[in-house]
Amino acid sequence: MKIAMIASEANPLIKTGGLADVVYSLSLELNKLDNKAVIILPYYKKIKNNPQYSVTFLGKFDIFMSWRKEYCGVFKLVLGNIEYYLIDNEQYFLRDNAYGYGDDGERFAFFSLAAIQALKLVDFKPDIVHIHDWQVGMIPCLLKEKYRNDPFFSGVKSVLTIHNPEFKGYLDKYFLNNYYGLSDTLFDNGKVRFDGMVSTLKSGITFSDIITTVSPTHRDELLDPLSRFKFSYVLELRKDDFYGIVNGVDTVEFNPKEDKYLCMTYDASKYLRSRTNNKKDLINSFHLPNVISKNPIFGVVSRLTEQKGIDLILANIPYLVEQGGSIVILGSGDPALEDKVQKIRDKYSHRVGIYIGYNDELAHKIYGGCDFFLMPSLFEPCGISQIISQRYGAVPIVRETGGLKDTVIGYKDTNLAVANGLSFQDFTVEGLRGTIEYAFRVYADDEKMKTIVKNGMKLDRSWKTSALEYMKIYRKALEK
Ligand code: GLC
Repeated sequence: MKIAMIASEANPLIKTGGLADVVYSLSLELNKLDNKAVIILPYYKKIKNNPQYSVTFLGKFDIFMSWRKEYCGVFKLVLGNIEYYLIDNEQYFLRDNAYGYGDDGERFAFFSLAAIQALKLVDFKPDIVHIHDWQVGMIPCLLKEKYRNDPFFSGVKSVLTIHNPEFKGYLDKYFLNNYYGLSDTLFDNGKVRFDGMVSTLKSGITFSDIITTVSPTHRDELLDPLSRFKFSYVLELRKDDFYGIVNGVDTVEFNPKEDKYLCMTYDASKYLRSRTNNKKDLINSFHLPNVISKNPIFGVVSRLTEQKGIDLILANIPYLVEQGGSIVILGSGDPALEDKVQKIRDKYSHRVGIYIGYNDELAHKIYGGCDFFLMPSLFEPCGISQIISQRYGAVPIVRETGGLKDTVIGYKDTNLAVANGLSFQDFTVEGLRGTIEYAFRVYADDEKMKTIVKNGMKLDRSWKTSALEYMKIYRKALEK
């Protein structure tokens, strides 16, 4: 099958979150399975200024958005088995960050229109256009409305994957006509209307042939009328075309057996000595000379945002320290939370290590050296860190939501044979507290701890399984 992946980020070119992992790893795996998946991305400054990438200019055209006429260049970059097509317009994309600008609505309207045109320029007629999240949510609507009679797109089917339904892609109504060149009727008849605005994500739900999200539990959550996402009534109408597929993990990047950042590598058959050494190395890396390596160390690698439950973690640090534990936190995000993390570190500097920002090496050291990995998310469509931590033998402590629920079986006294983490339900400080308390008890019992660690390390979470699921979905779309 020929698949055009259209998204706002993809590894290794540009990454702000898990979306980039999925777009890349899924394409890679699809190509290994004899498909032809290409990735279309904006040609961001970060990509353009990276001397490692040797790109080829393929051509240019103009994109018309009512009275606006915008240049669009198309470049090609090949990395491994993946072809990337990069959409160039310096006014829109030659900026320091991928998002967060007042004109993001316009930037991604341009990108969506340009990505469709680029397929024609490079003469890649896909079977499936697979789009991800709000930035490109209007593409299925454009294909079905604007390009309805274009023979190039006849028979092309679209699949939308929802990674983060918090971002709905709200736009003023005038965007429809003024930027996308679509009729206002689509707003008036409700097809793209949500909360009195245009929502590009809702439009994606309405017009895609198939919709997926990144875990079965998150699918159920999105269909729940009481959920915070408010999409249930929209998705209810598309229920039969709506699937949940759990993400895989990049088993090359995250492999404790061949991890260049770890002081000692290991696998499920033999890990104790290596992990102990890695733990000491982790303690050194975070400059925590007073931490005794016999006691448990908790790790966090996360964006510092409300979604990730950082407040719950911070509120539990005094307890955790009092019990003899220590914690290392790596991440960046909301400035107010970054500030709180700094303050807690200042107060408990003998047992709390932090790194504000992203650092691959330290992240790997955390996975390879901590005993427990904290991920008490408020919501989590899939989540990847909990899966990585299992692979590395760090026991995940998660809230039972979305993909966390689907990938972690919390130990509950009777299910040791299958347990591969610890989990709790209530998104409260006490909810997490109870599980941390439990973690200390489990930690004190070598045999239990070993079983839970091993159960996690032995799981197969490679992308192949997920890619095969997506292929089934693509076939369903083609039958429509
Ligand atoms: C979003 C979700 C996260 C998911 C990722 C990749 O970042 O918040 O749960 O793992 O997308 O699908």
